[in-house]
Amino acid sequence: MINDLQPSQQNRQPLPETTLDPREFRQALGTFTTGVTIVTARGPDGAPVGVTANSFNSVSLNPPLVLWSLARKSQSLAAFESASHWAVHILAHDQNDLSGRFARSTSGAEKFEDIKYEDGLGEAPLLSGCTTRLQCRTAHIYDGGDHVILVGEVLRFDKCDTPPLVFQSGNYAIATSTTQTVMPPDGEDPRNVSETSSLGYLLASAYLHFSAKSREHASELELNDIEYLILNALGAREARTYHELITLAAYTGRFVGRESINDLAARGLIRIDDEIEETTNPPEHIDHSHIYLTQEGKVLVTRITSQSQQVEENMMRQLGVPETIALRTLLSRFVRIHSPLIPYRWF
Ligand SMILES: Cc1cc2nc3c(=O)[nH]c(=O)nc-3n(C[C@H](O)[C@H](O)[C@H](O)COP(=O)(O)O)c2cc1C
Repeated sequence: MINDLQPSQQNRQPLPETTLDPREFRQALGTFTTGVTIVTARGPDGAPVGVTANSFNSVSLNPPLVLWSLARKSQSLAAFESASHWAVHILAHDQNDLSGRFARSTSGAEKFEDIKYEDGLGEAPLLSGCTTRLQCRTAHIYDGGDHVILVGEVLRFDKCDTPPLVFQSGNYAIATSTTQTVMPPDGEDPRNVSETSSLGYLLASAYLHFSAKSREHASELELNDIEYLILNALGAREARTYHELITLAAYTGRFVGRESINDLAARGLIRIDDEIEETTNPPEHIDHSHIYLTQEGKVLVTRITSQSQQVEENMMRQLGVPETIALRTLLSRFVRIHSPLIPYRWF
């Protein structure tokens, strides 16, 4: 039951004007990390409304109460103040676009355009793909300064295992646990690898372990490291020159000998385009001629790619979804900052 549709007016205490710097105050509050929700309801005209809100919080387990606050300037204020029910959607880690859409001050019709939803309690729109959904009955509405505080009684909820989206200091983020410990394999000294190991050691261990797994497949396919590297590089982009392959391999500390190129060509896996300008000296032909995968080479590269994807997927499955996203995000940032010379689209 709604206690009073106007309690916000009754509770209002005249407070002195703030002397806080609004920007700094907002930034200070932003250091409090939250999840991200979209709260939906139906307006008195039956139109759907929805607002992105990170002010959501739990209040009470018994009775089950939650709250969130809505800016008085929100276009949806009247709809939420009169709605008997609203639905809170705790967004999943991959729903930041949806969060952005419902954070724009546009009409409900525009926010819900092309979005599939079903009707929940009180006909509040229920969005899909979220981590958790809570269907609430409006219990109280309080004054909250330039916001109103809506308290809802949770009548129904559903949840899944998809990791939630996080909001931290104005940015979307993902959360990974810092307490989750993974036991070392049998017989391994637990001091070998820990969060306090040097970054160089951790990066090198991760790389060596990962590439050893890939190399197992390479040797099954009777390819040495260099041949594996050449085929991968051509799989990513064909028509590279020998010179280009040397440059790419040098980045990994390896050297591509001509014999490797000739060997792969003799095995029918690559084809060297011999259309050389007449002015080029014969010994340098191969340096500037373009190298392509043959049909057989392409089939092999497809196999290599799917095998490495499998290796990666297995490893990442053990790590967990948010951890994998965090690892990718941080590694790509790290590489971009510290390796400006890395060839574009190396693979
Ligand atoms: C991550 C995030 C969290 C937000 N949290 C709130 C909130 O708790 N309360 C609120 O009133 N606005 C919040 N906003 C802003 C509203 O989503 C935004 O003002 C929206 O345009 C309101 O829609 P409306 O004016 O169409 O009702 C948030 C925005 C973002 C991006």
